[in-house]
Amino acid sequence: MDKLIYLDNGATTFPKPEEVYAKMDTFYRSYGVNPGRSGYDLCLVAGSILEETRQLLTKFFNGGSDPNRLIFSYNATDALNLAIFGLLKAGDHAITTNVEHNSVLRPLYHLYKYNDVELDYIPFDSGGFVDPYDFARKIKKNTRLVAVNHGSNVIGTVQPIAEIGRICRERGIAFVVDASQTAGKVPVDMEKMNIDVVAFTGHKSLMGPMGIGGLYVREGVEIRHTRAGGTGVRSAVRTHLEEYPYRLEYGTPNLPGIAGLNAGVKWLEKEGMAGIHAREIMLLKSLRDGLRQIDGVTLHCQDDLTNHIGVLSFNVDDLEAGDTGTMLDVDYSIASRTGLHCAPLVHEQIGTDKIHGSVRFGIGPFNTKDDIDTAVNAVQEIAMSRKQSSSLSRQG
Ligand code: ALA
Repeated sequence: MDKLIYLDNGATTFPKPEEVYAKMDTFYRSYGVNPGRSGYDLCLVAGSILEETRQLLTKFFNGGSDPNRLIFSYNATDALNLAIFGLLKAGDHAITTNVEHNSVLRPLYHLYKYNDVELDYIPFDSGGFVDPYDFARKIKKNTRLVAVNHGSNVIGTVQPIAEIGRICRERGIAFVVDASQTAGKVPVDMEKMNIDVVAFTGHKSLMGPMGIGGLYVREGVEIRHTRAGGTGVRSAVRTHLEEYPYRLEYGTPNLPGIAGLNAGVKWLEKEGMAGIHAREIMLLKSLRDGLRQIDGVTLHCQDDLTNHIGVLSFNVDDLEAGDTGTMLDVDYSIASRTGLHCAPLVHEQIGTDKIHGSVRFGIGPFNTKDDIDTAVNAVQEIAMSRKQSSSLSRQG
Protein backbone atom coordinates (compact mmCIF):
# COMPACT_ATOMS: atom_id res chain seq x y z
CA MET A 1 0.00 0.00 0.00
CA ASP A 2 1.18 3.55 -0.75
CA LYS A 3 2.04 5.73 2.19
CA LEU A 4 -1.18 7.22 3.56
CA ILE A 5 -1.47 10.97 3.23
CA TYR A 6 -3.65 11.91 6.14
CA LEU A 7 -5.65 15.05 5.42
CA ASP A 8 -8.53 14.35 7.81
CA ASN A 9 -7.15 16.27 10.77
CA GLY A 10 -10.46 18.16 11.11
CA ALA A 11 -12.01 14.88 12.25
CA THR A 12 -9.12 13.99 14.54
CA THR A 13 -5.40 14.70 14.49
CA PHE A 14 -3.35 11.69 13.53
CA PRO A 15 -0.78 10.58 14.44
CA LYS A 16 -0.28 11.96 17.94
CA PRO A 17 3.04 13.13 19.33
CA GLU A 18 5.09 10.23 20.76
CA GLU A 19 4.84 11.85 24.19
CA VAL A 20 1.05 11.30 24.18
CA TYR A 21 1.30 7.55 23.51
CA ALA A 22 4.11 7.20 26.05
CA LYS A 23 2.32 9.12 28.80
CA MET A 24 -0.91 7.18 28.39
CA ASP A 25 0.89 3.88 28.47
CA THR A 26 3.13 4.66 31.43
CA PHE A 27 0.48 6.46 33.40
CA TYR A 28 -2.19 3.82 32.99
CA ARG A 29 0.19 0.94 33.68
CA SER A 30 1.62 2.54 36.79
CA TYR A 31 -1.22 4.60 38.24
CA GLY A 32 -4.42 3.44 36.55
CA VAL A 33 -6.61 3.46 39.66
CA ASN A 34 -9.77 5.38 40.41
CA PRO A 35 -8.75 8.92 41.43
CA GLY A 36 -10.30 10.74 44.37
CA ARG A 37 -12.07 7.69 45.78
CA SER A 38 -9.52 6.59 48.41
CA GLY A 39 -6.40 7.78 50.19
CA TYR A 40 -3.75 5.22 49.22
CA ASP A 41 -0.69 6.45 47.37
CA LEU A 42 -1.61 5.30 43.86
CA CYS A 43 -4.99 6.95 44.21
CA LEU A 44 -3.36 10.22 45.19
CA VAL A 45 -1.00 10.11 42.21
CA ALA A 46 -3.95 9.36 39.90
CA GLY A 47 -5.81 12.31 41.43
CA SER A 48 -2.80 14.54 40.91
CA ILE A 49 -2.83 14.10 37.10
CA LEU A 50 -6.49 15.07 37.13
CA GLU A 51 -5.80 18.21 39.15
CA GLU A 52 -2.67 19.13 37.19
CA THR A 53 -4.58 18.84 33.89
CA ARG A 54 -7.41 21.02 35.23
CA GLN A 55 -4.79 23.65 36.06
CA LEU A 56 -3.04 23.29 32.71
CA LEU A 57 -6.28 23.79 30.76
CA THR A 58 -7.57 26.58 33.01
CA LYS A 59 -4.38 28.47 32.16
CA PHE A 60 -4.55 27.42 28.51
CA PHE A 61 -8.01 29.00 28.14
CA ASN A 62 -7.21 31.87 30.54
CA GLY A 63 -10.37 30.80 32.32
CA GLY A 64 -9.90 32.31 35.77
CA SER A 65 -8.52 31.51 39.17
CA ASP A 66 -10.53 28.37 39.91
CA PRO A 67 -9.30 25.20 38.15
CA ASN A 68 -12.29 23.31 39.58
CA ARG A 69 -14.46 25.10 37.04
CA LEU A 70 -12.61 23.14 34.36
CA ILE A 71 -14.71 20.02 34.06
CA PHE A 72 -14.03 16.90 31.99
CA SER A 73 -16.56 15.20 29.74
CA TYR A 74 -16.36 12.63 26.91
CA ASN A 75 -15.93 15.10 24.08
CA ALA A 76 -17.14 18.52 22.90
CA THR A 77 -20.62 17.23 22.01
CA ASP A 78 -21.05 15.93 25.54
CA ALA A 79 -19.69 19.18 26.99
CA LEU A 80 -21.99 21.31 24.83
CA ASN A 81 -25.00 19.20 25.85
CA LEU A 82 -24.17 19.84 29.51
CA ALA A 83 -23.88 23.58 28.87
CA ILE A 84 -26.88 24.07 26.59
CA PHE A 85 -29.37 21.91 28.51
CA GLY A 86 -28.07 23.33 31.78
CA LEU A 87 -28.38 26.99 30.78
CA LEU A 88 -31.76 27.10 29.02
CA LYS A 89 -35.30 26.53 30.23
CA ALA A 90 -38.76 26.77 28.66
CA GLY A 91 -39.58 30.26 27.43
CA ASP A 92 -35.94 31.27 26.88
CA HIS A 93 -34.55 32.48 23.57
CA ALA A 94 -31.19 31.39 22.15
CA ILE A 95 -29.16 32.64 19.21
CA THR A 96 -26.76 30.52 17.22
CA THR A 97 -25.31 30.48 13.69
CA ASN A 98 -25.44 28.59 10.43
CA VAL A 99 -21.77 27.67 10.95
CA GLU A 100 -22.53 25.32 13.84
CA HIS A 101 -21.82 21.65 14.13
CA ASN A 102 -24.67 19.34 15.19
CA SER A 103 -23.15 19.34 18.68
CA VAL A 104 -24.78 22.76 19.08
CA LEU A 105 -27.56 22.56 16.51
CA ARG A 106 -29.16 19.38 17.78
CA PRO A 107 -29.31 20.16 21.51
CA LEU A 108 -30.78 23.56 20.64
CA TYR A 109 -33.25 22.07 18.19
CA HIS A 110 -34.37 19.50 20.77
CA LEU A 111 -35.03 22.32 23.22
CA TYR A 112 -36.93 24.24 20.53
CA LYS A 113 -39.02 21.21 19.60
CA TYR A 114 -39.71 19.72 23.03
CA ASN A 115 -39.13 22.49 25.61
CA ASP A 116 -40.50 25.74 24.13
CA VAL A 117 -37.12 27.38 23.66
CA GLU A 118 -37.12 30.02 20.89
CA LEU A 119 -34.25 29.97 18.41
CA ASP A 120 -32.61 32.26 15.86
CA TYR A 121 -29.83 31.37 13.42
CA ILE A 122 -27.35 33.97 12.13
CA PRO A 123 -26.17 33.31 8.56
CA PHE A 124 -22.56 33.89 7.46
CA ASP A 125 -21.45 36.19 4.63
CA SER A 126 -19.94 35.07 1.34
CA GLY A 127 -16.52 34.82 2.99
CA GLY A 128 -17.87 32.54 5.73
CA PHE A 129 -17.99 35.05 8.61
CA VAL A 130 -20.87 36.08 10.86
CA ASP A 131 -21.46 39.74 11.70
CA PRO A 132 -21.48 40.46 15.47
CA TYR A 133 -24.12 43.13 14.95
CA ASP A 134 -26.54 40.54 13.61
CA PHE A 135 -26.52 39.08 17.13
CA ALA A 136 -27.23 42.48 18.66
CA ARG A 137 -30.20 42.87 16.32
CA LYS A 138 -31.68 39.49 17.30
CA ILE A 139 -31.40 39.89 21.08
CA LYS A 140 -34.76 39.95 22.87
CA LYS A 141 -35.88 40.32 26.48
CA ASN A 142 -35.82 36.54 26.96
CA THR A 143 -32.47 35.88 25.21
CA ARG A 144 -30.42 33.79 27.64
CA LEU A 145 -27.80 32.13 25.45
CA VAL A 146 -25.63 32.80 22.42
CA ALA A 147 -23.71 29.75 21.16
CA VAL A 148 -21.08 30.17 18.45
CA ASN A 149 -18.62 27.91 16.68
CA HIS A 150 -15.17 29.50 16.90
CA GLY A 151 -13.67 27.75 13.85
CA SER A 152 -15.75 26.02 11.20
CA ASN A 153 -15.07 22.33 10.62
CA VAL A 154 -16.29 22.73 7.01
CA ILE A 155 -15.02 26.05 5.66
CA GLY A 156 -12.32 26.81 8.25
CA THR A 157 -13.36 30.39 9.02
CA VAL A 158 -12.64 31.74 12.51
CA GLN A 159 -15.45 33.91 13.83
CA PRO A 160 -15.13 37.32 15.56
CA ILE A 161 -15.67 35.82 18.98
CA ALA A 162 -14.40 38.74 21.07
CA GLU A 163 -16.89 41.17 19.50
CA ILE A 164 -19.84 38.79 19.84
CA GLY A 165 -18.74 38.15 23.44
CA ARG A 166 -18.64 41.88 24.19
CA ILE A 167 -22.23 42.28 22.99
CA CYS A 168 -23.35 39.33 25.16
CA ARG A 169 -21.43 40.52 28.22
CA GLU A 170 -22.96 44.01 28.01
CA ARG A 171 -26.41 42.46 28.02
CA GLY A 172 -25.76 39.73 30.59
CA ILE A 173 -26.35 36.87 28.12
CA ALA A 174 -24.41 33.63 28.55
CA PHE A 175 -21.90 33.23 25.72
CA VAL A 176 -20.90 29.64 24.90
CA VAL A 177 -18.08 29.02 22.43
CA ASP A 178 -17.50 25.73 20.67
CA ALA A 179 -13.71 25.64 20.38
CA SER A 180 -13.53 22.07 19.01
CA GLN A 181 -11.61 23.07 15.90
CA THR A 182 -9.64 26.02 17.30
CA ALA A 183 -8.34 24.91 20.71
CA GLY A 184 -4.67 24.16 20.02
CA LYS A 185 -4.61 26.12 16.77
CA VAL A 186 -5.40 29.74 17.65
CA PRO A 187 -5.67 31.39 21.08
CA VAL A 188 -8.94 30.85 22.93
CA ASP A 189 -8.63 33.43 25.68
CA MET A 190 -11.81 33.48 27.76
CA GLU A 191 -11.00 36.75 29.43
CA LYS A 192 -9.93 38.72 26.36
CA MET A 193 -12.72 37.24 24.23
CA ASN A 194 -15.52 37.71 26.79
CA ILE A 195 -16.32 33.99 26.76
CA ASP A 196 -18.52 32.62 29.56
CA VAL A 197 -18.30 28.94 28.73
CA VAL A 198 -15.79 27.26 26.44
CA ALA A 199 -16.30 23.72 25.16
CA PHE A 200 -13.32 21.73 23.90
CA THR A 201 -12.39 18.27 22.72
CA GLY A 202 -9.07 16.61 23.45
CA HIS A 203 -8.50 14.61 20.27
CA LYS A 204 -8.18 17.34 17.66
CA SER A 205 -5.60 20.12 17.87
CA LEU A 206 -4.99 19.66 21.59
CA MET A 207 -3.29 16.46 20.37
CA GLY A 208 -4.80 14.16 23.00
CA PRO A 209 -6.76 10.93 22.52
CA MET A 210 -10.45 10.43 21.74
CA GLY A 211 -13.01 10.24 24.55
CA ILE A 212 -11.92 13.28 26.51
CA GLY A 213 -13.25 16.84 26.34
CA GLY A 214 -14.71 19.39 28.68
CA LEU A 215 -15.86 22.86 29.61
CA TYR A 216 -14.48 25.82 31.46
CA VAL A 217 -17.31 27.70 33.14
CA ARG A 218 -16.47 31.28 34.11
CA GLU A 219 -17.16 32.30 37.70
CA GLY A 220 -20.59 33.91 37.98
CA VAL A 221 -22.09 31.68 35.26
CA GLU A 222 -24.02 28.72 36.64
CA ILE A 223 -24.98 25.65 34.65
CA ARG A 224 -27.73 23.49 36.17
CA HIS A 225 -26.82 19.84 36.42
CA THR A 226 -28.97 17.79 34.09
CA ARG A 227 -27.49 14.46 35.18
CA ALA A 228 -26.71 12.97 38.56
CA GLY A 229 -24.48 10.23 39.90
CA GLY A 230 -21.31 9.29 41.70
CA THR A 231 -18.77 11.94 42.62
CA GLY A 232 -16.54 9.97 44.99
CA VAL A 233 -17.09 12.52 47.77
CA ARG A 234 -20.02 13.37 50.11
CA SER A 235 -21.82 10.24 49.06
CA ALA A 236 -24.60 10.60 51.67
CA VAL A 237 -26.01 13.70 49.94
CA ARG A 238 -29.17 12.59 48.09
CA THR A 239 -28.95 14.98 45.15
CA HIS A 240 -26.05 15.65 42.85
CA LEU A 241 -23.45 18.01 44.32
CA GLU A 242 -23.63 21.71 43.50
CA GLU A 243 -19.94 22.55 43.78
CA TYR A 244 -17.47 22.36 40.92
CA PRO A 245 -16.01 20.20 39.50
CA TYR A 246 -18.54 17.62 40.80
CA ARG A 247 -21.48 19.71 39.65
CA LEU A 248 -20.79 18.77 36.01
CA GLU A 249 -18.84 15.52 36.37
CA TYR A 250 -20.42 12.10 36.79
CA GLY A 251 -18.79 8.80 37.65
CA THR A 252 -15.25 7.61 37.03
CA PRO A 253 -13.34 9.98 34.77
CA ASN A 254 -11.41 8.97 31.67
CA LEU A 255 -8.04 9.05 33.37
CA PRO A 256 -5.92 7.63 30.51
CA GLY A 257 -7.60 10.22 28.28
CA ILE A 258 -6.76 12.97 30.74
CA ALA A 259 -3.14 11.78 30.94
CA GLY A 260 -2.88 11.80 27.13
CA LEU A 261 -4.47 15.24 26.92
CA ASN A 262 -2.03 16.48 29.54
CA ALA A 263 0.86 15.30 27.36
CA GLY A 264 -0.77 16.75 24.22
CA VAL A 265 -1.11 20.23 25.71
CA LYS A 266 2.46 20.11 27.04
CA TRP A 267 3.70 19.06 23.58
CA LEU A 268 1.83 22.01 22.03
CA GLU A 269 3.37 24.39 24.53
CA LYS A 270 6.84 22.97 23.89
CA GLU A 271 6.51 23.17 20.09
CA GLY A 272 4.72 26.53 20.14
CA MET A 273 1.12 26.79 18.98
CA ALA A 274 1.69 29.99 16.95
CA GLY A 275 4.46 28.36 14.90
CA ILE A 276 2.41 25.21 14.24
CA HIS A 277 -0.56 27.31 13.15
CA ALA A 278 1.57 29.54 10.90
CA ARG A 279 2.97 26.45 9.18
CA GLU A 280 -0.50 24.95 8.70
CA ILE A 281 -1.74 28.20 7.18
CA MET A 282 1.26 28.25 4.82
CA LEU A 283 0.31 24.73 3.69
CA LEU A 284 -3.34 25.77 3.43
CA LYS A 285 -2.40 28.68 1.18
CA SER A 286 -0.41 26.40 -1.04
CA LEU A 287 -3.31 23.90 -1.17
CA ARG A 288 -5.82 26.64 -1.91
CA ASP A 289 -3.64 28.21 -4.61
CA GLY A 290 -3.06 24.83 -6.23
CA LEU A 291 -6.72 23.76 -6.21
CA ARG A 292 -7.82 27.18 -7.40
CA GLN A 293 -5.98 26.68 -10.72
CA ILE A 294 -7.86 23.48 -11.54
CA ASP A 295 -10.66 23.77 -14.06
CA GLY A 296 -13.88 22.38 -12.51
CA VAL A 297 -12.89 22.78 -8.85
CA THR A 298 -15.07 25.00 -6.63
CA LEU A 299 -13.59 26.12 -3.32
CA HIS A 300 -15.85 27.23 -0.50
CA CYS A 301 -15.04 30.42 1.45
CA GLN A 302 -11.27 30.33 0.97
CA ASP A 303 -10.60 33.85 -0.36
CA ASP A 304 -9.43 35.39 2.89
CA LEU A 305 -7.19 33.14 4.99
CA THR A 306 -6.48 35.77 7.65
CA ASN A 307 -8.93 34.46 10.24
CA HIS A 308 -8.74 30.83 9.31
CA ILE A 309 -7.69 27.37 10.36
CA GLY A 310 -6.21 24.73 8.05
CA VAL A 311 -9.54 23.35 6.85
CA LEU A 312 -10.63 23.57 3.21
CA SER A 313 -13.75 22.34 1.44
CA PHE A 314 -14.23 21.90 -2.28
CA ASN A 315 -16.20 20.11 -4.99
CA VAL A 316 -15.13 18.81 -8.39
CA ASP A 317 -17.66 19.69 -11.10
CA ASP A 318 -20.90 17.82 -10.42
CA LEU A 319 -19.14 14.78 -8.96
CA GLU A 320 -20.66 13.52 -5.73
CA ALA A 321 -18.33 14.49 -2.89
CA GLY A 322 -18.29 10.86 -1.71
CA ASP A 323 -17.08 9.68 -5.12
CA THR A 324 -14.24 12.20 -5.13
CA GLY A 325 -13.30 11.05 -1.63
CA THR A 326 -13.30 7.40 -2.72
CA MET A 327 -11.03 8.17 -5.68
CA LEU A 328 -8.67 10.12 -3.41
CA ASP A 329 -8.57 7.17 -1.05
CA VAL A 330 -8.41 4.24 -3.47
CA ASP A 331 -6.28 5.75 -6.25
CA TYR A 332 -4.03 8.08 -4.27
CA SER A 333 -4.10 6.89 -0.60
CA ILE A 334 -5.29 10.29 0.53
CA ALA A 335 -7.62 10.42 3.55
CA SER A 336 -10.23 13.21 3.41
CA ARG A 337 -13.73 13.61 4.82
CA THR A 338 -16.75 13.98 2.57
CA GLY A 339 -20.44 14.74 3.03
CA LEU A 340 -22.14 17.21 5.34
CA HIS A 341 -19.54 17.03 8.12
CA CYS A 342 -22.28 17.13 10.83
CA ALA A 343 -22.81 20.80 9.90
CA PRO A 344 -25.90 20.73 7.67
CA LEU A 345 -26.68 24.45 7.75
CA VAL A 346 -23.26 25.36 6.31
CA HIS A 347 -24.05 23.16 3.31
CA GLU A 348 -27.59 24.51 3.02
CA GLN A 349 -26.22 28.03 2.92
CA ILE A 350 -23.51 27.35 0.33
CA GLY A 351 -25.83 25.08 -1.69
CA THR A 352 -23.76 21.91 -1.41
CA ASP A 353 -26.54 20.07 0.42
CA LYS A 354 -28.00 19.30 -3.01
CA ILE A 355 -24.84 17.45 -4.09
CA HIS A 356 -24.38 15.57 -0.80
CA GLY A 357 -21.85 17.97 0.66
CA SER A 358 -18.24 18.69 -0.11
CA VAL A 359 -14.80 17.13 0.14
CA ARG A 360 -12.79 18.40 3.08
CA PHE A 361 -9.05 18.48 3.64
CA GLY A 362 -7.92 19.18 7.20
CA ILE A 363 -4.26 20.02 7.69
CA GLY A 364 -2.43 18.96 10.85
CA PRO A 365 0.95 19.51 12.49
CA PHE A 366 2.55 16.52 10.76
CA ASN A 367 1.56 17.32 7.16
CA THR A 368 4.27 18.32 4.70
CA LYS A 369 4.46 20.34 1.49
CA ASP A 370 4.79 17.02 -0.38
CA ASP A 371 1.41 15.92 1.03
CA ILE A 372 -0.14 19.11 -0.30
CA ASP A 373 1.47 18.79 -3.74
CA THR A 374 0.29 15.18 -3.99
CA ALA A 375 -3.25 16.18 -3.02
CA VAL A 376 -3.34 18.99 -5.61
CA ASN A 377 -2.08 16.65 -8.35
CA ALA A 378 -4.63 14.01 -7.37
CA VAL A 379 -7.53 16.46 -7.55
CA GLN A 380 -6.21 17.72 -10.89
CA GLU A 381 -6.25 14.19 -12.32
CA ILE A 382 -9.72 13.51 -10.93
CA ALA A 383 -11.02 16.77 -12.45
CA MET A 384 -9.43 15.96 -15.82
CA SER A 385 -10.84 12.46 -15.91
CA ARG A 386 -14.26 13.87 -15.02
CA LYS A 387 -14.05 16.28 -17.96
CA GLN A 388 -12.98 13.46 -20.29
CA SER A 389 -15.80 11.16 -19.20
CA SER A 390 -18.40 13.97 -19.50
CA SER A 391 -17.20 14.79 -22.99
CA LEU A 392 -17.23 11.09 -24.02
CA SER A 393 -20.78 10.65 -22.70
CA ARG A 394 -21.90 13.77 -24.64
CA GLN A 395 -20.36 12.33 -27.83
CA GLY A 396 -21.97 8.94 -27.16
N1 ALA B 1 -16.69 16.91 13.94
C1 ALA B 1 -15.64 16.16 13.36
C2 ALA B 1 -15.45 16.50 11.92
O1 ALA B 1 -15.75 17.57 11.50
C3 ALA B 1 -15.78 14.73 13.60
O2 ALA B 1 -15.01 15.70 11.15
